[in-house]
Amino acid sequence: MDGAAVPSADVPVIDLKPAEPGGDRRWEIDPDAYWATIDAATNGLDAPILAADLAALRYNVGEMLRRAAGKPIRVASKSIRSRPLLDALLVLDGFAGVLAYDVAEAHWLASSTPERPGCPDVLVGYPSADLSAIAALAADEEASARVTLMIDDAAQLDLIDAAVPPSRRSTLRVCIDIDASYRAPALGFLGVRRSPVRTRAEASVLAMTIGGRKGFTLVGAMTYDAQIAGVGDRSMHRPGGTSIVRAIQSASWDELVARRKDILTDLRRIADLEFVNGGGTGSLERNAADPNISDIAAGSGLFGPTLFDDYSHFKPAPAAAFGLAVTRRPASDIVTCHGGGWIASGPAGSDRVPRPVWPTGLRLLGREGAGEVQTPVQGERAWRISLGDRVWFRHAKAGEPCEHTDSVVIVSDGGVDATVATYRGEGRCFL
Ligand SMILES: Cc1ncc(COP(=O)(O)O)c(C=O)c1O
Repeated sequence: MDGAAVPSADVPVIDLKPAEPGGDRRWEIDPDAYWATIDAATNGLDAPILAADLAALRYNVGEMLRRAAGKPIRVASKSIRSRPLLDALLVLDGFAGVLAYDVAEAHWLASSTPERPGCPDVLVGYPSADLSAIAALAADEEASARVTLMIDDAAQLDLIDAAVPPSRRSTLRVCIDIDASYRAPALGFLGVRRSPVRTRAEASVLAMTIGGRKGFTLVGAMTYDAQIAGVGDRSMHRPGGTSIVRAIQSASWDELVARRKDILTDLRRIADLEFVNGGGTGSLERNAADPNISDIAAGSGLFGPTLFDDYSHFKPAPAAAFGLAVTRRPASDIVTCHGGGWIASGPAGSDRVPRPVWPTGLRLLGREGAGEVQTPVQGERAWRISLGDRVWFRHAKAGEPCEHTDSVVIVSDGGVDATVATYRGEGRCFL
Protein backbone atom coordinates (compact mmCIF):
# COMPACT_ATOMS: atom_id res chain seq x y z
CA MET A 1 0.00 0.00 0.00
CA ASP A 2 1.41 3.37 -1.02
CA GLY A 3 1.11 5.87 1.85
CA ALA A 4 1.50 9.17 0.01
CA ALA A 5 -1.47 11.45 -0.52
CA VAL A 6 -0.78 13.94 -3.27
CA PRO A 7 -3.40 16.68 -3.54
CA SER A 8 -4.14 18.09 -6.98
CA ALA A 9 -2.57 21.34 -8.07
CA ASP A 10 -5.77 23.15 -7.05
CA VAL A 11 -5.24 22.39 -3.36
CA PRO A 12 -2.70 24.78 -1.82
CA VAL A 13 0.10 22.86 -0.13
CA ILE A 14 2.21 24.36 2.60
CA ASP A 15 5.85 23.67 1.85
CA LEU A 16 7.17 21.96 4.97
CA LYS A 17 10.37 20.74 3.33
CA PRO A 18 13.11 21.25 5.91
CA ALA A 19 15.80 23.77 5.07
CA GLU A 20 18.53 21.46 6.35
CA PRO A 21 17.33 17.88 6.14
CA GLY A 22 19.32 15.64 8.40
CA GLY A 23 21.32 18.59 9.72
CA ASP A 24 22.18 18.99 13.36
CA ARG A 25 21.59 22.72 13.52
CA ARG A 26 19.96 23.61 16.81
CA TRP A 27 16.94 25.81 17.12
CA GLU A 28 18.16 28.92 18.91
CA ILE A 29 15.75 31.78 19.27
CA ASP A 30 15.55 34.99 21.15
CA PRO A 31 12.09 34.40 22.64
CA ASP A 32 11.24 38.08 22.72
CA ALA A 33 12.04 38.60 19.04
CA TYR A 34 10.50 35.29 17.92
CA TRP A 35 7.10 35.82 19.54
CA ALA A 36 7.08 39.54 18.78
CA THR A 37 7.52 38.70 15.10
CA ILE A 38 4.60 36.27 15.17
CA ASP A 39 2.49 38.86 16.96
CA ALA A 40 3.39 41.57 14.45
CA ALA A 41 2.85 39.26 11.46
CA THR A 42 -0.68 38.48 12.62
CA ASN A 43 -1.49 42.03 13.66
CA GLY A 44 -5.08 42.92 12.83
CA LEU A 45 -6.31 39.31 12.76
CA ASP A 46 -9.01 38.46 15.25
CA ALA A 47 -8.14 36.69 18.49
CA PRO A 48 -8.22 33.97 19.64
CA ILE A 49 -5.76 33.07 16.93
CA LEU A 50 -3.69 29.93 16.48
CA ALA A 51 -0.43 30.60 14.66
CA ALA A 52 2.57 28.54 13.62
CA ASP A 53 5.97 29.69 12.42
CA LEU A 54 6.93 28.15 9.08
CA ALA A 55 10.68 28.03 9.76
CA ALA A 56 10.00 26.32 13.11
CA LEU A 57 7.67 23.81 11.46
CA ARG A 58 10.33 23.03 8.87
CA TYR A 59 12.98 22.65 11.51
CA ASN A 60 10.73 20.22 13.38
CA VAL A 61 10.04 18.23 10.22
CA GLY A 62 13.80 17.99 9.63
CA GLU A 63 14.32 16.77 13.18
CA MET A 64 11.58 14.15 12.90
CA LEU A 65 13.08 12.86 9.65
CA ARG A 66 16.60 12.85 11.05
CA ARG A 67 15.49 10.91 14.11
CA ALA A 68 13.46 8.42 12.04
CA ALA A 69 16.64 7.68 10.07
CA GLY A 70 14.87 6.75 6.86
CA LYS A 71 12.06 4.73 8.38
CA PRO A 72 8.67 6.07 7.23
CA ILE A 73 6.77 8.24 9.68
CA ARG A 74 3.04 7.57 9.83
CA VAL A 75 1.47 10.90 10.74
CA ALA A 76 -0.49 10.82 14.02
CA SER A 77 -3.45 12.95 12.94
CA LYS A 78 -4.69 13.64 16.48
CA SER A 79 -1.60 15.79 16.93
CA ILE A 80 -2.16 17.81 13.72
CA ARG A 81 -5.96 18.07 13.17
CA SER A 82 -5.59 20.11 10.01
CA ARG A 83 -5.99 18.42 6.63
CA PRO A 84 -3.78 20.88 4.71
CA LEU A 85 -0.98 20.27 7.21
CA LEU A 86 -1.43 16.50 6.97
CA ASP A 87 -1.21 16.88 3.18
CA ALA A 88 1.90 19.02 3.56
CA LEU A 89 3.63 16.27 5.52
CA LEU A 90 2.43 13.42 3.32
CA VAL A 91 3.92 14.88 0.14
CA LEU A 92 7.38 14.80 1.73
CA ASP A 93 9.72 11.83 1.40
CA GLY A 94 9.91 10.12 4.76
CA PHE A 95 6.23 10.47 5.68
CA ALA A 96 3.77 7.79 4.61
CA GLY A 97 0.25 7.09 5.75
CA VAL A 98 -1.83 8.40 8.61
CA LEU A 99 -2.52 7.11 12.11
CA ALA A 100 -6.08 8.38 12.59
CA TYR A 101 -7.98 8.51 15.88
CA ASP A 102 -11.52 7.83 14.79
CA VAL A 103 -13.27 5.72 12.14
CA ALA A 104 -15.34 8.60 10.74
CA GLU A 105 -12.17 10.69 10.55
CA ALA A 106 -10.28 7.89 8.79
CA HIS A 107 -13.12 7.50 6.28
CA TRP A 108 -13.07 11.23 5.58
CA LEU A 109 -9.28 11.31 5.14
CA ALA A 110 -9.33 8.27 2.83
CA SER A 111 -12.12 9.60 0.62
CA SER A 112 -11.23 11.22 -2.67
CA THR A 113 -12.88 14.45 -3.76
CA PRO A 114 -12.42 16.34 -7.02
CA GLU A 115 -9.88 18.63 -5.27
CA ARG A 116 -8.00 16.07 -3.27
CA PRO A 117 -7.20 12.39 -3.62
CA GLY A 118 -7.94 10.53 -0.41
CA CYS A 119 -5.06 9.19 1.63
CA PRO A 120 -4.42 5.62 0.47
CA ASP A 121 -3.21 4.32 3.84
CA VAL A 122 -5.07 5.24 7.01
CA LEU A 123 -4.64 3.16 10.14
CA VAL A 124 -7.21 3.84 12.85
CA GLY A 125 -5.09 3.73 15.99
CA TYR A 126 -7.88 2.81 18.39
CA PRO A 127 -10.81 0.35 18.39
CA SER A 128 -14.26 1.77 17.68
CA ALA A 129 -17.81 1.12 18.78
CA ASP A 130 -19.21 3.69 16.36
CA LEU A 131 -21.43 1.33 14.40
CA SER A 132 -22.72 4.04 12.05
CA ALA A 133 -19.20 5.09 11.12
CA ILE A 134 -18.15 1.47 10.62
CA ALA A 135 -21.23 0.80 8.47
CA ALA A 136 -20.54 3.91 6.37
CA LEU A 137 -16.92 2.87 5.86
CA ALA A 138 -17.84 -0.70 4.96
CA ALA A 139 -20.34 0.60 2.39
CA ASP A 140 -17.59 2.57 0.66
CA GLU A 141 -15.37 0.16 -1.25
CA GLU A 142 -12.64 2.61 -2.15
CA ALA A 143 -12.28 3.90 1.41
CA SER A 144 -12.53 0.52 3.12
CA ALA A 145 -9.63 -0.73 1.00
CA ARG A 146 -7.57 2.20 2.32
CA VAL A 147 -8.51 2.12 5.99
CA THR A 148 -7.30 -0.41 8.57
CA LEU A 149 -9.30 -0.86 11.77
CA MET A 150 -7.72 -1.54 15.17
CA ILE A 151 -8.55 -4.69 17.08
CA ASP A 152 -7.45 -6.06 20.43
CA ASP A 153 -10.45 -8.23 21.31
CA ALA A 154 -12.62 -10.65 19.33
CA ALA A 155 -15.66 -8.76 20.69
CA GLN A 156 -14.66 -5.84 18.46
CA LEU A 157 -15.04 -8.13 15.45
CA ASP A 158 -18.58 -8.85 16.68
CA LEU A 159 -19.27 -5.12 16.89
CA ILE A 160 -18.14 -4.66 13.31
CA ASP A 161 -20.31 -7.58 12.20
CA ALA A 162 -23.21 -6.01 14.09
CA ALA A 163 -22.69 -2.83 12.08
CA VAL A 164 -22.60 -4.74 8.76
CA PRO A 165 -22.58 -8.54 8.47
CA PRO A 166 -19.68 -9.97 6.45
CA SER A 167 -22.12 -11.16 3.77
CA ARG A 168 -22.98 -7.51 3.02
CA ARG A 169 -19.51 -6.00 2.89
CA SER A 170 -16.14 -6.56 1.36
CA THR A 171 -13.28 -7.75 3.53
CA LEU A 172 -12.15 -5.22 6.13
CA ARG A 173 -8.50 -4.68 6.97
CA VAL A 174 -7.59 -5.05 10.64
CA CYS A 175 -4.51 -4.51 12.79
CA ILE A 176 -3.79 -5.96 16.24
CA ASP A 177 -2.83 -3.54 19.01
CA ILE A 178 -0.25 -5.21 21.24
CA ASP A 179 0.16 -3.90 24.77
CA ALA A 180 3.51 -2.12 25.06
CA SER A 181 3.20 -1.09 28.72
CA TYR A 182 5.84 -2.01 31.28
CA ARG A 183 5.42 -3.79 34.59
CA ALA A 184 8.21 -2.20 36.56
CA PRO A 185 9.61 -3.88 39.63
CA ALA A 186 8.20 -2.01 42.70
CA LEU A 187 6.45 0.70 40.60
CA GLY A 188 4.00 -1.65 38.87
CA PHE A 189 2.12 -0.74 35.69
CA LEU A 190 3.65 2.00 33.52
CA GLY A 191 2.14 3.02 30.21
CA VAL A 192 -1.41 3.24 28.94
CA ARG A 193 -4.33 0.93 29.71
CA ARG A 194 -5.33 -0.11 26.23
CA SER A 195 -4.82 -3.52 24.71
CA PRO A 196 -5.32 -6.75 26.69
CA VAL A 197 -3.09 -8.53 24.13
CA ARG A 198 0.32 -8.84 25.76
CA THR A 199 1.70 -12.32 25.36
CA ARG A 200 2.65 -14.48 22.39
CA ALA A 201 -0.26 -16.77 23.11
CA GLU A 202 -2.78 -13.90 23.36
CA ALA A 203 -1.58 -12.35 20.12
CA SER A 204 -1.60 -15.67 18.25
CA VAL A 205 -5.08 -16.60 19.47
CA LEU A 206 -6.46 -13.26 18.30
CA ALA A 207 -4.65 -13.51 14.95
CA MET A 208 -6.08 -16.99 14.38
CA THR A 209 -9.52 -15.82 15.42
CA ILE A 210 -9.35 -13.02 12.86
CA GLY A 211 -8.13 -15.49 10.24
CA GLY A 212 -11.05 -17.78 10.97
CA ARG A 213 -13.68 -15.05 10.68
CA LYS A 214 -15.35 -14.11 7.41
CA GLY A 215 -14.90 -10.55 6.22
CA PHE A 216 -11.62 -9.68 7.96
CA THR A 217 -8.00 -9.74 6.93
CA LEU A 218 -5.16 -9.18 9.37
CA VAL A 219 -2.68 -6.78 7.79
CA GLY A 220 -0.72 -5.22 10.62
CA ALA A 221 0.36 -4.96 14.22
CA MET A 222 0.93 -1.90 16.39
CA THR A 223 2.67 -1.24 19.71
CA TYR A 224 2.54 2.20 21.34
CA ASP A 225 5.23 2.66 23.98
CA ALA A 226 3.51 5.56 25.78
CA GLN A 227 5.79 5.36 28.83
CA ILE A 228 8.75 6.11 26.55
CA ALA A 229 7.31 8.06 23.61
CA GLY A 230 5.14 10.33 25.73
CA VAL A 231 7.22 10.88 28.87
CA GLY A 232 10.01 13.43 28.89
CA ASP A 233 13.05 12.12 30.70
CA ARG A 234 13.96 15.61 31.91
CA SER A 235 10.49 16.42 33.21
CA MET A 236 10.37 18.36 36.45
CA HIS A 237 6.89 16.98 36.98
CA ARG A 238 7.98 13.35 37.36
CA PRO A 239 8.65 12.26 40.89
CA GLY A 240 11.97 10.54 41.40
CA GLY A 241 14.03 12.60 39.00
CA THR A 242 15.39 12.11 35.61
CA SER A 243 17.81 9.25 36.12
CA ILE A 244 15.05 6.98 37.38
CA VAL A 245 12.86 7.87 34.38
CA ARG A 246 15.74 7.08 32.04
CA ALA A 247 16.51 3.76 33.73
CA ILE A 248 12.87 2.70 33.63
CA GLN A 249 12.49 3.71 29.99
CA SER A 250 15.58 1.78 29.07
CA ALA A 251 14.41 -1.37 30.91
CA SER A 252 10.94 -0.99 29.38
CA TRP A 253 12.41 -0.68 25.91
CA ASP A 254 14.52 -3.83 26.27
CA GLU A 255 11.50 -5.76 27.52
CA LEU A 256 9.31 -4.48 24.67
CA VAL A 257 11.80 -5.19 21.88
CA ALA A 258 12.30 -8.79 23.02
CA ARG A 259 8.60 -9.49 23.58
CA ARG A 260 7.58 -7.78 20.34
CA LYS A 261 10.10 -9.81 18.34
CA ASP A 262 8.68 -13.11 19.63
CA ILE A 263 5.09 -12.02 19.10
CA LEU A 264 5.80 -10.87 15.54
CA THR A 265 7.58 -14.10 14.68
CA ASP A 266 4.38 -15.93 15.63
CA LEU A 267 2.04 -13.47 13.90
CA ARG A 268 4.02 -13.64 10.66
CA ARG A 269 3.43 -17.40 10.59
CA ILE A 270 -0.30 -16.76 10.83
CA ALA A 271 -0.77 -13.76 8.54
CA ASP A 272 1.06 -11.71 5.92
CA LEU A 273 1.67 -8.52 7.85
CA GLU A 274 1.99 -5.48 5.59
CA PHE A 275 3.24 -3.27 8.41
CA VAL A 276 4.26 -3.15 12.05
CA ASN A 277 3.76 0.29 13.56
CA GLY A 278 5.43 1.49 16.72
CA GLY A 279 6.32 4.49 18.74
CA GLY A 280 5.55 8.14 18.92
CA THR A 281 7.42 11.44 18.76
CA GLY A 282 9.46 10.66 21.88
CA SER A 283 10.68 7.27 20.64
CA LEU A 284 11.40 7.89 16.95
CA GLU A 285 15.05 6.87 17.10
CA ARG A 286 14.43 3.83 19.25
CA ASN A 287 11.77 2.49 16.88
CA ALA A 288 13.89 3.44 13.88
CA ALA A 289 16.61 1.12 15.19
CA ASP A 290 14.30 -1.88 15.66
CA PRO A 291 14.18 -3.96 12.46
CA ASN A 292 10.80 -5.34 13.49
CA ILE A 293 9.16 -1.95 13.08
CA SER A 294 8.20 -0.89 9.54
CA ASP A 295 6.71 2.55 10.26
CA ILE A 296 6.71 4.92 13.21
CA ALA A 297 3.70 6.95 14.30
CA ALA A 298 4.45 10.55 15.20
CA GLY A 299 2.70 13.89 15.08
CA SER A 300 3.42 16.05 18.14
CA GLY A 301 6.93 16.74 16.93
CA LEU A 302 5.56 19.07 14.26
CA PHE A 303 4.04 21.73 16.55
CA GLY A 304 6.40 21.07 19.50
CA PRO A 305 4.01 21.74 22.41
CA THR A 306 5.22 22.26 26.00
CA LEU A 307 4.95 18.58 26.99
CA PHE A 308 7.77 17.95 24.52
CA ASP A 309 10.14 20.47 26.12
CA ASP A 310 11.48 17.92 28.60
CA TYR A 311 13.22 15.26 26.53
CA SER A 312 16.99 14.99 26.69
CA HIS A 313 17.51 13.53 23.21
CA PHE A 314 15.58 16.06 21.12
CA LYS A 315 14.15 19.55 21.43
CA PRO A 316 11.42 20.58 19.00
CA ALA A 317 11.08 24.25 18.16
CA PRO A 318 8.04 25.84 19.81
CA ALA A 319 6.33 26.18 16.44
CA ALA A 320 2.73 26.90 17.50
CA ALA A 321 1.10 29.30 19.92
CA PHE A 322 -2.26 30.92 20.43
CA GLY A 323 -2.87 34.60 20.95
CA LEU A 324 -5.64 35.98 23.16
CA ALA A 325 -6.92 39.53 23.27
CA VAL A 326 -6.33 41.56 26.42
CA THR A 327 -9.64 43.05 27.49
CA ARG A 328 -9.10 44.26 31.10
CA ARG A 329 -6.55 45.54 33.56
CA PRO A 330 -7.56 44.58 37.10
CA ALA A 331 -4.22 45.82 38.55
CA SER A 332 -1.16 47.59 37.20
CA ASP A 333 0.79 44.33 36.96
CA ILE A 334 -2.13 42.17 35.79
CA VAL A 335 -3.99 42.06 32.48
CA THR A 336 -6.90 39.78 31.72
CA CYS A 337 -7.28 37.96 28.41
CA HIS A 338 -10.46 36.79 26.73
CA GLY A 339 -10.55 32.96 26.76
CA GLY A 340 -7.60 30.77 27.58
CA GLY A 341 -8.79 27.62 29.34
CA TRP A 342 -7.32 25.42 26.66
CA ILE A 343 -6.35 22.75 29.16
CA ALA A 344 -4.65 19.65 27.80
CA SER A 345 -5.98 16.14 28.35
CA GLY A 346 -4.23 13.66 30.61
CA PRO A 347 -3.61 13.60 34.34
CA ALA A 348 -4.71 17.03 35.63
CA GLY A 349 -1.71 19.04 36.73
CA SER A 350 0.28 22.19 36.17
CA ASP A 351 1.96 20.72 33.09
CA ARG A 352 -1.43 20.60 31.32
CA VAL A 353 -2.23 24.31 31.42
CA PRO A 354 -1.23 26.79 28.70
CA ARG A 355 2.04 28.60 29.29
CA PRO A 356 2.15 32.37 28.62
CA VAL A 357 5.18 33.03 26.42
CA TRP A 358 4.84 36.61 25.19
CA PRO A 359 5.19 39.29 26.32
CA THR A 360 7.85 37.44 28.26
CA GLY A 361 7.81 37.26 32.04
CA LEU A 362 4.05 36.82 32.43
CA ARG A 363 2.56 34.04 34.56
CA LEU A 364 -0.86 32.62 35.30
CA LEU A 365 -2.38 33.32 38.70
CA GLY A 366 -2.28 30.27 40.96
CA ARG A 367 -5.79 30.79 42.27
CA GLU A 368 -7.39 31.39 38.91
CA GLY A 369 -5.36 29.58 36.27
CA ALA A 370 -6.48 29.62 32.64
CA GLY A 371 -10.19 30.37 32.68
CA GLU A 372 -13.14 29.36 30.56
CA VAL A 373 -13.71 32.93 29.37
CA GLN A 374 -11.12 35.03 31.20
CA THR A 375 -7.43 34.43 31.93
CA PRO A 376 -5.47 36.94 33.99
CA VAL A 377 -1.70 37.04 33.62
CA GLN A 378 0.69 38.84 35.93
CA GLY A 379 4.17 40.21 35.47
CA GLU A 380 6.35 43.25 35.40
CA ARG A 381 5.70 43.87 31.73
CA ALA A 382 1.93 43.85 32.14
CA TRP A 383 1.83 47.60 32.58
CA ARG A 384 3.16 48.01 29.06
CA ILE A 385 0.34 45.92 27.57
CA SER A 386 -2.64 47.87 26.24
CA LEU A 387 -6.20 46.69 26.02
CA GLY A 388 -6.62 45.09 22.60
CA ASP A 389 -3.03 43.79 22.55
CA ARG A 390 -2.49 40.06 22.53
CA VAL A 391 -0.82 37.71 24.96
CA TRP A 392 0.59 34.51 23.43
CA PHE A 393 0.42 31.08 25.05
CA ARG A 394 1.83 27.68 24.19
CA HIS A 395 -0.44 24.67 24.60
CA ALA A 396 0.71 21.52 26.39
CA LYS A 397 -0.39 19.26 23.54
CA ALA A 398 -0.12 19.44 19.79
CA GLY A 399 -3.52 18.80 18.23
CA GLU A 400 -5.93 19.98 20.90
CA PRO A 401 -5.59 23.74 20.21
CA CYS A 402 -7.04 23.03 16.76
CA GLU A 403 -10.34 22.18 18.47
CA HIS A 404 -10.59 25.86 19.53
CA THR A 405 -10.01 27.57 16.20
CA ASP A 406 -11.14 27.29 12.60
CA SER A 407 -7.67 27.85 11.19
CA VAL A 408 -3.94 27.87 11.76
CA VAL A 409 -2.21 31.00 10.52
CA ILE A 410 1.20 30.10 9.09
CA VAL A 411 3.69 32.90 9.63
CA SER A 412 6.87 33.42 7.64
CA ASP A 413 9.32 36.28 7.06
CA GLY A 414 7.33 38.65 9.22
CA GLY A 415 4.03 38.10 7.39
CA VAL A 416 1.22 35.62 6.91
CA ASP A 417 2.29 32.87 4.52
CA ALA A 418 -1.03 31.02 4.50
CA THR A 419 -4.12 30.33 6.56
CA VAL A 420 -5.06 26.66 6.69
CA ALA A 421 -8.23 25.08 8.00
CA THR A 422 -8.30 22.96 11.12
CA TYR A 423 -10.69 20.00 11.27
CA ARG A 424 -13.08 22.34 13.11
CA GLY A 425 -12.71 24.88 10.33
CA GLU A 426 -13.88 22.20 7.91
CA GLY A 427 -16.88 21.57 10.18
CA ARG A 428 -15.46 18.29 11.50
CA CYS A 429 -15.58 17.33 15.15
CA PHE A 430 -14.64 13.73 15.86
CA LEU A 431 -13.90 13.60 19.59
C1 LIG B 1 -1.33 4.76 19.16
C2 LIG B 1 -0.45 5.97 19.23
N1 LIG B 1 0.65 6.01 18.48
C3 LIG B 1 1.46 7.07 18.49
C4 LIG B 1 1.20 8.16 19.31
C5 LIG B 1 2.20 9.29 19.31
O1 LIG B 1 1.73 10.48 18.85
P1 LIG B 1 2.61 11.81 19.02
O2 LIG B 1 3.81 11.65 18.20
O3 LIG B 1 1.72 12.88 18.54
O4 LIG B 1 2.93 11.95 20.45
C6 LIG B 1 0.09 8.14 20.13
C7 LIG B 1 -0.17 9.26 21.03
O5 LIG B 1 -0.97 9.24 21.92
C8 LIG B 1 -0.78 7.01 20.09
O6 LIG B 1 -1.88 6.94 20.86
